[in-house]
Amino acid sequence: MPALVLLGAQWGDEGKGKATDLLGGSVDYVVRYQGGNNAGHTVVVGDQKYALHLLPSGILSPTCVPVIGNGVVVDPSVLLSELSGLNERGVDTSKLMISGNAHIITPYHVTVDKVTERFLGKRKIGTTGRGIGPTYADKINRVGIRVQDLYDESILTQKVEAALDVKNQVLTKLYNRRAIAVDQVVEELLGYAEKLAPYVADTVLVLNQALEDDKVVLFEGGQGTLLDIDHGTYPFVTSSNPTAGGACTGSGVGPTKISRVIGILKAYTTRVGAGPFPTELFDADGDALRRIGGERGVTTGRDRRCGWFDAVIARYATRVNGLTDFFLTKLDVLTGWEQIPVCVAYEIDGKRVEELPYSQTDFHHAKPVYETLPGWSEDITKAKSFSDLPKNAQNYVRALEEMSGAPISAIGVGPGRDETIEINSFL
Ligand code: GDP
Ligand code: IMO
Ligand code: MG
Repeated sequence: MPALVLLGAQWGDEGKGKATDLLGGSVDYVVRYQGGNNAGHTVVVGDQKYALHLLPSGILSPTCVPVIGNGVVVDPSVLLSELSGLNERGVDTSKLMISGNAHIITPYHVTVDKVTERFLGKRKIGTTGRGIGPTYADKINRVGIRVQDLYDESILTQKVEAALDVKNQVLTKLYNRRAIAVDQVVEELLGYAEKLAPYVADTVLVLNQALEDDKVVLFEGGQGTLLDIDHGTYPFVTSSNPTAGGACTGSGVGPTKISRVIGILKAYTTRVGAGPFPTELFDADGDALRRIGGERGVTTGRDRRCGWFDAVIARYATRVNGLTDFFLTKLDVLTGWEQIPVCVAYEIDGKRVEELPYSQTDFHHAKPVYETLPGWSEDITKAKSFSDLPKNAQNYVRALEEMSGAPISAIGVGPGRDETIEINSFL
């Protein structure tokens, strides 16, 4: 059976959690392959609302095995408190598996993330302050700590020493902060070892065997295409690969196993943190999108920047991810606008540009070229099929599909599991 990837097509917060949860009951494994607790995925099940950060959204489906892959960075304290929070609400988390090769976010990574941002001042990225960038930097620098290191005290101590050698110089001499004691860090990390032990597994083997046994594996991306370290709006990005290729490297499953790549696409655009955003609105429409769409960060509580739909970005997401489908979310939020502008191209230094420019300078100069589509005023939250949608909403969806380069196979008309119109089945 196939592996599917579900990922953010824009700057994150497209509704990946809801989409994953929706499929959770029909798949055998849900795998996070990158990122960490910078993610905030809200899932609404009946009258219950769950905010997940590190755990795959499949954790809410009793039959599904949730997996944290090798490409994820894990803050053990966050993981354990997320698990106990779910247990208190009656969610069984015992099936969780964590790759022994996943890297650990330590307290010093969180400290370095925060002081670096402060030091950058006006040039800051606006990170979530969760230690994500510094942990991936240590991974690439080969001074990272992995989950498996918790089970060998001598190796763990050596690795923490190696990591803190340089960091303490930087912290004390450059940032004027206190040095971090190796022993303290080692002691804290060892304290997590026993609690995490039941979950640690050879997830590469488990997932590949599952695929051989015809099980369905769903990869759930964190963040989004334009936050990708390689393909996003660098340097205003996260430090991992949310794009489809990341699902392979972050899990140890080869690309030939992936049969479908679903891009989660909001019917308008949002962004959290700094960086270019051509369709951003600074007016009453932007405020209305934020208010009606509830656009406030699940992780940091920051207001999300809001703007109209950008088809240039959607086309780009189709290309760099090889998208086979889109899941269009939050169409209901657009109800009530008489006219809805959609960005179809950019104007850059007086020239019309149809595709996302690779040059950062050009992207910073990009001005949206809008086409305006007629809106609708009818409540669409009860719509169950495409034909239940008002004509103008249907036309809006069709227009987006045409501009974006892949079929829209599902439409979200509300946050709940059942507030979804399925057009083509994903499985
Ligand atoms: P994620 O990070 O991609 O999982 O997205 P977030 O959970 O951060 O943000 C998406 C928000 O939109 C959440 O509060 C969801 O409950 C909500 N949501 C998802 N799909 C829909 C939809 O179709 N309509 C509405 N109104 N809300 C939705
Ligand atoms: P989900 O999975 C939206 C943004 C941060 C910042 C940049 C780098 O909920 O879609 P980081 O802490 O990752 O080093 O911050 O990336 N960012 C997100 N924005 N949704 C997310 O996750 C994000 N995760 C990180 O705001 O601009
Ligand atoms: Mg989110």
